[in-house]
Amino acid sequence: MRIDVVSIFPSYFDGLTLSLLGKARDSGILDLNVHDLRDWTHDRHRTVDDTPYGGGAGMVMKPEPWGEALDALTSPPVVERAQRDETQATPTIIFPSPAGEVFTQATARDLAAREHLIFGCGRYEGIDERVFEYAADRGEVRLISLGDYVLNGGEVAVMAMVEAIGRLIPGVVGNPESLVEESHEDGLLEYPSYTKPALWRDREVPPILLSGNHGAIAAWRRDQQLERTRDRRPDLLGG
Ligand code: ADE
Repeated sequence: MRIDVVSIFPSYFDGLTLSLLGKARDSGILDLNVHDLRDWTHDRHRTVDDTPYGGGAGMVMKPEPWGEALDALTSPPVVERAQRDETQATPTIIFPSPAGEVFTQATARDLAAREHLIFGCGRYEGIDERVFEYAADRGEVRLISLGDYVLNGGEVAVMAMVEAIGRLIPGVVGNPESLVEESHEDGLLEYPSYTKPALWRDREVPPILLSGNHGAIAAWRRDQQLERTRDRRPDLLGG
């Protein structure tokens, strides 16, 4: 999978050289490139923002650098939307935004199946609206929120999304079974886990886990999942 990230703070993404995603990059499973939006400016100050038309607080990201970034990353460019062959792999262009659809494990699974993702990190009061229209002629545009709170920009949201998506790409997580038994994979929270020693500071591991009875262990784990989900996230059970 190819992922391009555009940001005015590319060093936010230095952490993606670490751990499993770093290994996936080294092995070529993940072709992840981080770009500085200012590389697509042409003035001495490398300006990416300006005051909003109509007045109001804050600054808005200018369309020109974004247009050049999209031209560079979606080349060969200009597959007009009306003529686009839907079977052809067009990039999915994601703009993190608190005004977008909420990112979930299902979103991560959907995006992990794509060939090319482009993340455009907005800052300030947002990006000139025409950039989204322009992007829609070059790929499938998604506005995605990490949750119902406001961050200072899209970078932290993109870090979270890239990690959640990246670990679902086949070969990134060593043991694929560990992906199956996780919170949210079956709509429930994960069961509790324990390791040695069996007694630690007067606290025992639940005896069923030491019983060797795999059927009983599986049933206990399922009960724990249901109980936790009911307590902590009743919304997941539709309640
Ligand atoms: N940018 C600012 N807040 C955000 C959020 N909650 N999700 C995604 N991008 C954002």
